[in-house]
Amino acid sequence: MIKEVRPATSPQKVSNSTFFLSPLRIPYLDSTHFSTTFPSSNYELPTMIQFALPSLSFATRWGIALVAVGYRLQQIYTLYFRVPASPLQNYKRNGSLKSNGEKNESSVAWALITGSSAGIGFGYAQYLLSRGFGVIILSHEGVQEAEEALLKEYPNGHVRSITMDCLTASPSDIENLVKSISDLNVTILINNVGSIPMDYPPFRLFRDYDSQGIENNWHLNAGFATHLTQQMIPILEKNAQPRSLILNIASQAHIGLPYLTGYSSAKGYLISFSASLAREFRLFNTPIDCLAITPGDVHSQGNRYGVTPGAPQAGEYAKIVLERVDGAVERGLFEFSPYWKHALQSFMLGLLPERVVAREVLKVVAAKKDALAEEHRSR
Ligand SMILES: NC(=O)c1ccc[n+]([C@@H]2O[C@H](COP(=O)([O-])OP(=O)(O)OC[C@H]3O[C@@H](n4cnc5c(N)ncnc54)[C@H](OP(=O)(O)O)[C@@H]3O)[C@@H](O)[C@H]2O)c1
Repeated sequence: MIKEVRPATSPQKVSNSTFFLSPLRIPYLDSTHFSTTFPSSNYELPTMIQFALPSLSFATRWGIALVAVGYRLQQIYTLYFRVPASPLQNYKRNGSLKSNGEKNESSVAWALITGSSAGIGFGYAQYLLSRGFGVIILSHEGVQEAEEALLKEYPNGHVRSITMDCLTASPSDIENLVKSISDLNVTILINNVGSIPMDYPPFRLFRDYDSQGIENNWHLNAGFATHLTQQMIPILEKNAQPRSLILNIASQAHIGLPYLTGYSSAKGYLISFSASLAREFRLFNTPIDCLAITPGDVHSQGNRYGVTPGAPQAGEYAKIVLERVDGAVERGLFEFSPYWKHALQSFMLGLLPERVVAREVLKVVAAKKDALAEEHRSR
């Protein structure tokens, strides 16, 4: 018998900000981009107020405008600057205590973080340990050293490490990975692994890619996360207490960067993937939240050359992300750039004409390309 799956009759309440994020407002280089990251620009006066406005006095109109602006500013403040007292509490099992007061490993809430031996992924692991989560770190090199460093910093923390090359992992390797952690209460999946997996020069025109370069960019930045997420959904659903979380680490590069077509487009896919999943979870009452994170420039192991002045350090950025996820999920966002300077950059780009945007993004990428070339020459 074919079982018909219907959307839940009473879908979860969708917040106003979600309502305003029309599916047609896909965030590209226009001012609507800001609506997904910085809700202030997307203000629409309710129809009744629009009709009533002409009959209101000048002072009343100004009063309404001021209240509306104040309300939006307050929303921006809470989204970007307010840190909840207990971040990520929705994804945390309380965990029963052993007689010596320690938590039972099997009852701790765990997070699986891909690409976490260094960079922002390592920062996520540090922050989650500081909040009492267990962490499973996964990379193709250096996991042992990373595990030691984490346990040195958090001697009572729960850490497991997995060595896996996400570039070459097949769906059956991923299945084995998921089986190997099925004894743990994983409630958070952070699809963080990503880079430009090509021989020198990684910054090149798309016509100069070879087929392996195309495959590698897709698989490391998007394909691996897609397969892993698909296999993790039943586990995250089972462990939700009360909810589980999937974070897909995309990039501001999704707007389309010259010399980085493979990377930029794979990151764009992650945003659409996250939106589709988040909608499925809401419509079918699956207790999993899903959000794409779009970082701008962040200093990390993999991003050392030509970094924009003032870019945050990896650990600092990871903390900012995880302390602001709750607010973004609460507002029903699908995509979020939690660092206010990155969000402001996206907003400003959305206001500029395309020829200026093209010139500015080329400047940023060219600075990285030249700095890397300089380093390559000096080797
Ligand atoms: N940094 C930025 O400015 C920035 C901006 C936008 C988006 N992002 C995104 O944020 C995420 C983290 O960036 P990041 O700058 O922190 O990266 P990173 O410093 O290069 O660190 C990447 C991590 O991934 C691991 N890794 C790389 N290739 C791997 C593979 N084939 N298999 C398994 N693990 C692998 C690395 O470990 P190994 O030692 O094993 O190589 C390392 O632990 C990425 O998805 C990136 O695209 C970063």
